[in-house]
Amino acid sequence: MSGARIEIAASILNADLGALRETVQAAEAAGVDRIHLDIMDGHFVPNLTFGLATVEALRSATKLPFDAHLMVLSPGLWATRYVDAGCESVAIHVEAPDQHRATLDAIRDSGGRAGLALDPETPIESLVPFRDELDFALVMTVKSGFGGQSYRPEAAGRMAAIRKLVGERDGHPLPLHVDGGINATTAGDAAAAGADLLVVGSALFSAQGPTGMGGAVRAIRESATR
Ligand code: DX5
Ligand code: ZN
Repeated sequence: MSGARIEIAASILNADLGALRETVQAAEAAGVDRIHLDIMDGHFVPNLTFGLATVEALRSATKLPFDAHLMVLSPGLWATRYVDAGCESVAIHVEAPDQHRATLDAIRDSGGRAGLALDPETPIESLVPFRDELDFALVMTVKSGFGGQSYRPEAAGRMAAIRKLVGERDGHPLPLHVDGGINATTAGDAAAAGADLLVVGSALFSAQGPTGMGGAVRAIRESATR
């Protein structure tokens, strides 16, 4: 972690999908920095969530930046459409059988920040061919496809090696985002391993009690900045 304030992005995947507008506004009120949108096509991962129309409908619900995480078989078909729908960044999976260089370039040409996501079992060397097209990497600390899984520290532990392999971007270390199983306990480990941004889903939307989601955000931020 560069010592700068770590960002928290709320993944709404495990929230009440029947009340997404309120969900996004509650996450904003709780103090998150960004909204993380898990787009799943039921083919690249065995789960189907929401798509472009939902993102377009949600755009007016908050001023927070949207980050699209595309868990889809053909990211090249969709990526720039999520930028056009109001996403500030789009992460596509390096494991998807697609022309990533062209897609990453297209995301950036359309004004978005381009990222590659990689699952815990995927060799980090797979990022190297695309390092000149990357604005960030999305390091999965669970197997992509479902929220509510347990954090895998060894996956976060690969961040230092990713930094070495992928090097710098415009003179700065490549921003690394971590996604999966982040809560007040695991956030410290992820931050210590080098995360600049934490994606948090279940730990936010399952937060109950008097301090609820706001308390969860504070606890995660505290754990990440220790
Ligand atoms: C999983 C998604 C993650 C996940 C995060 O495929 O990419 O964003 O929903 O949710 P939690 O925090 O519950 O692991
Ligand atoms: Zn995600």
